[in-house]
Amino acid sequence: MYNLLKGKRGIIFGALDENSIAWKTAERAHEEGATFVLTNAPIAMRMGAIKTLAEKTNSQIIPADATKMEDLENLVEQATTILGGKLDFVLHSIGMSVNVRKSVPYTESNYDFTTKGWDVSAVSFHKVMNVLYNKDAMNEWGSIVALTYMAAQRVFPDYNDMADNKAYLESIARSFGYFFGTDKKVRVNTISQSPTPTTAGQGVKGFDGFIAYADKMSPLGNATAQDCADYTITLFSDLTKKVTLQNLYHDGGFSNVGVSQAVMDTFAKER
Ligand SMILES: NC(=O)c1ccc[n+]([C@@H]2O[C@H](COP(=O)([O-])OP(=O)(O)OC[C@H]3O[C@@H](n4cnc5c(N)ncnc54)[C@H](O)[C@@H]3O)[C@@H](O)[C@H]2O)c1
Repeated sequence: MYNLLKGKRGIIFGALDENSIAWKTAERAHEEGATFVLTNAPIAMRMGAIKTLAEKTNSQIIPADATKMEDLENLVEQATTILGGKLDFVLHSIGMSVNVRKSVPYTESNYDFTTKGWDVSAVSFHKVMNVLYNKDAMNEWGSIVALTYMAAQRVFPDYNDMADNKAYLESIARSFGYFFGTDKKVRVNTISQSPTPTTAGQGVKGFDGFIAYADKMSPLGNATAQDCADYTITLFSDLTKKVTLQNLYHDGGFSNVGVSQAVMDTFAKER
């Protein structure tokens, strides 16, 4: 390991189980010398797996529903007290669509579900940054990262309203990132990750076919959760201080490929 995060403090949202991108990132941050607080929605705590991660990484857990300002205020206050100072990094690794969960087709969206998913998946990022900004809880040259998916730019029909939530999330990263950069010298970026077999990922209809297709389309193959953790660590490190307001594709090259030979071969007719 490289001690890339030695002495740095942070908050990691969204480690549900060992497949979670946040889980892998917490393990890597620990290996790189960071100290951090783990958080997730109170309902996710009931599954209990996060305790294993906390023990493994010497971290404390503070439950917070990322849609509730009072929970976020409590989280940030407690985290800075426990960690002994302002924060250097925050990972927002949160996503949920009620329409997807309940298999409601995009063309028949239930708007109560749409609003809930938008709040959890997108507006929560604004709320997290609002609390960090107004409590002046980030150190200069700190780094805030949220996870997104390319359905924000291109159509993937089964991604449903999560596509719209991700477009909104990426816009919040730019808009809030402007103020965080100008006023506090803190960077804000989104990582646009390959399809990944996690609880959230597998909730999307047709995920198995889709992940195989993406793998065949990507010159380097799909990026795994472990790969994503590595990339996130670089964005938390001092080696990327001037990277901000970006949506960074971490997808084995998928986003710039029209078609691959492997996919062509599947459709080519024998002559
Ligand atoms: N898995 C993929 O294919 C993929 C691809 C690109 C981007 N992403 C994004 O990566 C992020 C992490 O997802 P994952 O794939 O690791 O799945 P995951 O299911 O392991 O993580 C999602 C997390 O969101 C948390 N969450 C839900 N509602 C919450 C709330 N109200 N408050 C706080 N936390 C809440 C869940 O408890 C869970 O820990 C999400 O933003 C997801 O959209 C995933």
